[in-house]
This record gives sequence, C-alpha cells and structure tokens, in this order.
Amino acid sequence: MPTYRAPRGTRDLLPEEAGRFLRFARVAADLTSRYGYRPIETPLFEQTAVFERGIGEVTDVVEKELFRIAPRTEDAEAWALRPEPTAGIVRAYVQHGMQTWPQPVRLTMTGPMFRYDRPQAGRYRQFWQFDVEAIGDPGPAIDAEIIELGYRFYTEIGVRDVEVQVNSIGDPVCRPAYLATLVAYYRAAAGTLPPTERDRLEKNPLRLLDSKDPAMAALNAAAPRITDHLCDACQAHFDGLRTHLDALDVPYRVAPGLVRGLDYYTRTAFEFYVAGREGQQQAIGGGGRYDGLVELLGGRPTPGIGFGLGLDRVALVLDEQSSAAGTDGDAADGGRAPDAVVVSADPDDTIGRLRVATELRATGLAARADLGHRKLGRQLEAAGRDGAHFAVILGDELAEGQAQLRDMQAGTQRLVAIGDLGRELQRAVSQHRHGTRKG
Ligand code: HAM
Repeated sequence: MPTYRAPRGTRDLLPEEAGRFLRFARVAADLTSRYGYRPIETPLFEQTAVFERGIGEVTDVVEKELFRIAPRTEDAEAWALRPEPTAGIVRAYVQHGMQTWPQPVRLTMTGPMFRYDRPQAGRYRQFWQFDVEAIGDPGPAIDAEIIELGYRFYTEIGVRDVEVQVNSIGDPVCRPAYLATLVAYYRAAAGTLPPTERDRLEKNPLRLLDSKDPAMAALNAAAPRITDHLCDACQAHFDGLRTHLDALDVPYRVAPGLVRGLDYYTRTAFEFYVAGREGQQQAIGGGGRYDGLVELLGGRPTPGIGFGLGLDRVALVLDEQSSAAGTDGDAADGGRAPDAVVVSADPDDTIGRLRVATELRATGLAARADLGHRKLGRQLEAAGRDGAHFAVILGDELAEGQAQLRDMQAGTQRLVAIGDLGRELQRAVSQHRHGTRKG
C-alpha cells in the first residue's frame, strides 16, 4: 500500500484517460464554436456567497457538498471551491458589464468542479463538466437549440441511446401557489418524512421532490405536479420549447417529476440519461433556464439558460457501451508516436542528439532524442518500442555533416545532409501518412 494516495473521491487521469478527456474538450470546443459560443475561464474558487445566493442555501450542493476553504485570518473573505460553473459565469457576466455586449452572450467552459459528496461510481468529489451558458435571450427557441447542442455532443463523442427528459418548473408567478399545494401534500404525510426532509419542507419544499432518500420515492411519485399548475406564460413557453424540439427532431420525453437540484431554475429544466441507466439516478448532463440569477447576483434582470454535462459519467458510459459491444471503445489518445527518434553511435554524445532533435521539433515534427548512455542497438530497440516511424542515426558521417535516416518499418536507410533532415523527414512522414511510400 503506497503511503500517499489521491484524496478519496478523486482520481488521477493517467495518460490514456487524460487523452480521452482532451478529446472530449476538443469536441466540445469545436461544437460550441460552430454554434457561436466563446470560451470563458473563471476561478476554481469564488466568494462562498456567490454559490449560497446563486445556487440557494437550502440545497444539497450548498448545505452538504460545498468544499469551503478555511480562512487564513479572522477577517478573511469566505471562499469555496466551485461546485458548478453557472454561478461563477453569471458573476463574471455582471462584473464585466456583459449586458452591454450584443445579447445573448454565449459562453462555454470545460473544467473540474468540486462537491463533497459520498463517493461512488460516477460520483466524485472532483469531476469534469462541459458547460454552456446563453445569457440574455428569454427563449424558448434558444432553449431547444441548447438542448439539441447537448444531444449532439453525445452523438459526436460516440455515446448511444441518449434520452432527453424535459420539464417546466414554472416561474415566480405560478410557483408560489404550486408550492403551497406541495407543502399541504407533504404535511399530510409529515409523520413518514425523514428528519432532513421534514426540516426542508418549511424552507424549500421543491427540494423534497429530488430527494436522494429512498424513503421518499413512493411519496414523490404521487406528488402534485408543477406542469398541472403552470401560469399561461409558462405554459406557452413550454409549448414553444416542445414545438421547437419537434422541429429539430430531438427525441425527448416530458418528465413531470424533474425539478433539478439547484434553486436558480425557472421554466425549462432538462436532463440527459442513457436509456436503461435511469435507475441509477445518474444523469450524464442537465441544465435549464435561470431567468432570475443575473439579478440575484447584482445585475439587471436578464434571462439565461445553459447546461453542464458530466464528462466522468460520459467516460463510464463509453466504457460500458464498448464492452457490451465487444469493441475497444472510443479511440483513447494516450499521446503521439514520434515521427523520429535521434540516436547515436557514440553513447556519450547527448549534445549532438539533443541538438538535432531540437531542430527537427522546431520544424513541427514530433522528434525525441534518446538521452541514455547506451549502445546504438539498444537505442534503436527503444525507438522501435515507441512506435517511431524513423530513426536519425548520428555516426561517423557526422564529420561530413550527414546522418543516416532509417525507415523503421521498411528497415531501409540512406544518408541525408543534417541541414536537409527536417525537409526530408516532413516529406517522408507525409508520404507514410498518405500510404504512398515508395522504395
Ligand atoms: P448538475 O445537474 O448539478 O447541473 O450537474 C451537471 C452534471 O454534472 C450532472 O448531470 C452529472 O453528469 C455531473 N455531475 C454532477 N455531480 C457530479 C459528481 N459528484 N461526480 C460526477 N459527475 C457529476 C449543474 O451543475 C448546472 N450548473 C448545469 C447548468 C448550467 N444549468 C444551467 N447552466
């Protein structure tokens, strides 16, 4: 057992897995730029108040799961690691006066989030999200566009059988009357409520609906539904969302019990699941509209909508789906095989090897110098194990400014002037790539 280990609920992404996450981020960046989103980066930690106000004080995320940073002095600001990106991005929108930019402002970010939850498969204390936010458009057309964008991400990344669940959770006009009905319903069953839920009933009754406590399942299934209590404007918005989703051919299911776990949501709420995995309560992504959030964090009233997709869960699903299909799964990118490895007959000439490799890299080639003090044969063996296409062999010809260029696959070699190596290799590598290698 090693003395030091990654903290519980976190994991190291070793090169294969880290390469796969880079691929997710690349697909996300390419896709979002096609839809007009621009990248943003916010700090990994914020003033705790940003999350308390934004996400809501009576939510699992803030009450139980916030990673609070111990203050260094008594009068220090209270900080917490970000449990999700939306509150920070909206804080940045307000702070930098983005309401004066052309609206909506479309922003995207991919990075780690932190929640002090009980770790289990698919639930980590540090996890990655691909997030998009469109701030400044009341919808519902953009709601459908965003849901379609999330759905397309899964398609492009190779996840099959994704199911979209949508709901409307009303707004400040219709929600109070619904909440009164909900409170009356739960009060009638108060004797059977677990203590946390009984406490929450008075403070934030909507949260009971997405309780993770199994004791709540039957009660929640029979609870009054917000969709039966929507005001005319929310109903029209929800109908508009569905018409647009139909027009875009996004398959979806209306899920009247879906309320999301964060307080900032209004109207549209949605989640992505893989069909057959719903029982595990593990959404692979989720989002919704937050028309009150900008104002809550100090800006002018401004509508917004976005989603966060859980990349760790996407990776798990890809593994499950590929092992079920008996394939190797998505092409993990564990790094690039070198175009050339520079070796030399003189085991101690590391300067010569390093110099040539440095020049080759400057021309854009993936070139590595063998920096061990071992015999030429061993250097060539190692180059072969690395999958190098070519070896540049520095030997006696170096005195005349030349080196042997060896094609590792064909087993052939020829003399090339050192100054021409970059150009020769570029040409040979591109011929290899296009399968037009001659002699
Ligand atoms: P969320 O539903 O809390 O929404 O998280 C989004 C996704 O992150 C989840 O569907 C899940 O895939 C993943 N996720 C959440 N917690 C964990 C965890 N502990 N371990 C692994 N994956 C996890 C939000 O965070 C909102 N900010 C989404 C949003 C953006 N709404 C509007 N804009």
